[in-house]
Amino acid sequence: MQLGTIEAAISELKNSGIVGMPTETVYGLAAKIDDIKAVQKIFSTKKRPFFDPLIVHVSDIEMAKALTTEWSELAQALAEKFWPGPLTMVLPKSSRVIDSITAGLGSVGIRMPNHPMALELIKKMGVPLAAPSANRFGKTSPTKAMHVLAEFPLDPGIVLDGGDCIIGLESTVLLIQKMSDIYQLCILRAGRVSESQIRSAIAEKKINFVFLPKADKQLAPGQMKHHYMPDIPLVVVKGNSTEQEILEKAKQRISSMPDRIDEVEIRKPKKFNSAKEVILDKDPSFAARHFYSQLREMSAQNTDILYIRISKDHETELWQPLMDRLLKAASLIF
Ligand code: TXA
Ligand code: MG
Repeated sequence: MQLGTIEAAISELKNSGIVGMPTETVYGLAAKIDDIKAVQKIFSTKKRPFFDPLIVHVSDIEMAKALTTEWSELAQALAEKFWPGPLTMVLPKSSRVIDSITAGLGSVGIRMPNHPMALELIKKMGVPLAAPSANRFGKTSPTKAMHVLAEFPLDPGIVLDGGDCIIGLESTVLLIQKMSDIYQLCILRAGRVSESQIRSAIAEKKINFVFLPKADKQLAPGQMKHHYMPDIPLVVVKGNSTEQEILEKAKQRISSMPDRIDEVEIRKPKKFNSAKEVILDKDPSFAARHFYSQLREMSAQNTDILYIRISKDHETELWQPLMDRLLKAASLIF
């Protein structure tokens, strides 16, 4: 892929191409939702399995309404409160959404990104854009235009440089289902918009709802155990082990792991001689903003493994989205 202007991106999309699109969360790999060839290009470029559905991005609420058969008072309330922003609502899909976007599910994930370039692109296209994060399947998500270029150097397509992503972790994915007159909600993926924020936004509107702790596996096909993985193994350490102990444990355990888990490649270094520590900032938002680019930069340095220390301090709700990514990016946790 190569850097280009909005005009170049528009003509790429009109020619069934794909575009690296900046958002406030992570960069996406975008295609027009009514262009099956371009949508297939997203899957083949990312090497993403077809069972994992894509999020559809809109530039206004009217566009979102056309994608679902149930734009409820709840969806309206959450859109007014959190859009544009890092909340994806999974709602019953309308016939405008083709099956290859939703992996055959009856629902579609919809979000309005909070980035001027993404909004301008969608508005000028006049069509919603389907976009997963712009990384190879299972790998670390991109938070800079240069990450997207490095991820897909040989594939055709335009990347828009919208600067560094301010949030740095993917949106909250919220499943919304209506059962008689009560809404059942379930967070399929943690993100910057927290359960407490969603609860208080709805409480203001006097809507009946319950939060389910877990969704059926068929309703959340993208929640693999391994995801976001850097190019060298990441070890997450909960205790006080020394660097030497971490290396020894990694050698014993990672060498004997399978080469693939849930279709995600588990990289194994030839030796376990050197380690580098990924240090998290004390502030959870700041730590989240830099996490993926830290992983990318540090795994390109001359070291066999990375490790990261977590503690009780990281157990609060504000840390939840980052802890979710970090534990899935890990090859080993102890
Ligand atoms: O912040 C974000 O959400 C970024 C930016 C580019 O918008 N996008 C993103 O897309 O993270 P992706 O494809 O990497 O992750 C989307 C997640 C996947 O876990 C997928 O399974 C889930 O959302 N998802 C999408 N549509 C769904 C649906 N209809 N039902 C259940 N889960 C869905
Ligand atoms: Mg992703």
